[in-house]
Amino acid sequence: MSEEFQSPRGFHDILGKDLRKFRKITSVVREYLKRHNYEEIITPVVEYAKVFERSIGEVTDIVQKEMFVFKDRKGRLLSLRPEGTAGVVRAYIQHKLYALKPYHKLFYEGPMFRYERPQAGRYRQFHQIGAEVFGIGEPFADAELIKLVSDILNELKVKATIEINSLGCRVCRPAYREALTQYLHNVAGELCDVCIDRKDRNPLRVLDCKVETCQTAVKEAPKVVDFLCEDCRRHYEELKVYLSKLEVPYRENPGLVRGLDYYTRTVFEAVSESIGAAVIAGGRYDYLVEELGGPPTPALGFAVGIERLSLLVEDPGKEEEFYFVIPLGDVLPQALKVAQNIRERGKVAELSYRRGGLKKQMEFANKIGADYVVIVGEDELKEGVVSLKDMRTGEQVKIKPEEI
Ligand code: HAM
Repeated sequence: MSEEFQSPRGFHDILGKDLRKFRKITSVVREYLKRHNYEEIITPVVEYAKVFERSIGEVTDIVQKEMFVFKDRKGRLLSLRPEGTAGVVRAYIQHKLYALKPYHKLFYEGPMFRYERPQAGRYRQFHQIGAEVFGIGEPFADAELIKLVSDILNELKVKATIEINSLGCRVCRPAYREALTQYLHNVAGELCDVCIDRKDRNPLRVLDCKVETCQTAVKEAPKVVDFLCEDCRRHYEELKVYLSKLEVPYRENPGLVRGLDYYTRTVFEAVSESIGAAVIAGGRYDYLVEELGGPPTPALGFAVGIERLSLLVEDPGKEEEFYFVIPLGDVLPQALKVAQNIRERGKVAELSYRRGGLKKQMEFANKIGADYVVIVGEDELKEGVVSLKDMRTGEQVKIKPEEI
């Protein structure tokens, strides 16, 4: 196949067992979100680029290197969404949801776009299902959200470690930022070119750099948890107490900073050792609603990376048993009717679209994994019956079509 007719690099089709895993993940996540009474929201795939620049931060990899930005016919800058939170926050403010209820719990599902270097589990179009809570600043909400993440992982039988950290707030972050910048100046010789620039503009991002020399250089860097103000420290301590009460296993990772600038206080990631990456991630973002023009509203959320999780879940196989209806001879109208009758009773039926003898048809039924075969034959029809074969036991009976 000529390359120009293949899907673009990093854009993938999802089919077969990958799609079954995809659906299993979304149905489990949806089920758990439902139990927590989250309400679904669908936001556009495209927003004004400013929405993301403001939310995610101008000096982040996502905004600087990974957004799919384009101009509309009036010259306005739009971007495919690289993540879901910014759009949900924009919608929350635009529809003045804050005026309706003191707090909101919303969830979304859909494709996200980042111009990253594709590799296993990393795509340029990928899918997230995520949740956002608006209007609650207390740490029990963080704990409940992390418990939800932990439940989802358990239900999907995925082994991942939940790492947590606190990134502080407006009060304590400046002092930390200063200490970190000072430290980074001292090790500037070991930093990559990008981080040389970042160290003054957005020093936290240096901690997140994947370049090896940078990772070594920041090993001894000051830790944000050592700079937390009284309120942030209490928030973090209470979160840990709640997590223990809820029996959520977690690991503190003082180096966890996340790749988006909107976070305050709690951040977390569910990291899989076997793929060496986070499968679910999130945290608190208490200033973002305000930053985008809404009233001061504490908020928090997480997003599940569906393709990443897919690498770790088992193929559930096909869900429903199905009846395969084989017409033998000149009986198509009757066979159509038999299949239709089965469907009307809420079962799954497929009419064979192949022609040919019984042997070939049975081989085909086996190949596509039919659970039951219904043979509609000319002679049997004269007696008002069809043959029903259970493919697992091999048992075969003659039966009136309406009794299947
Ligand atoms: P994020 O860490 O950028 O956070 O992405 C969340 C998850 O999406 C990651 O843990 C990963 O599983 C998946 N993911 C990210 N990039 C890719 C990619 N290129 N290919 C495949 N999967 C990917 C957020 O997006 C935040 N909006 C999460 C959040 C919600 N925070 C608060 N609320």
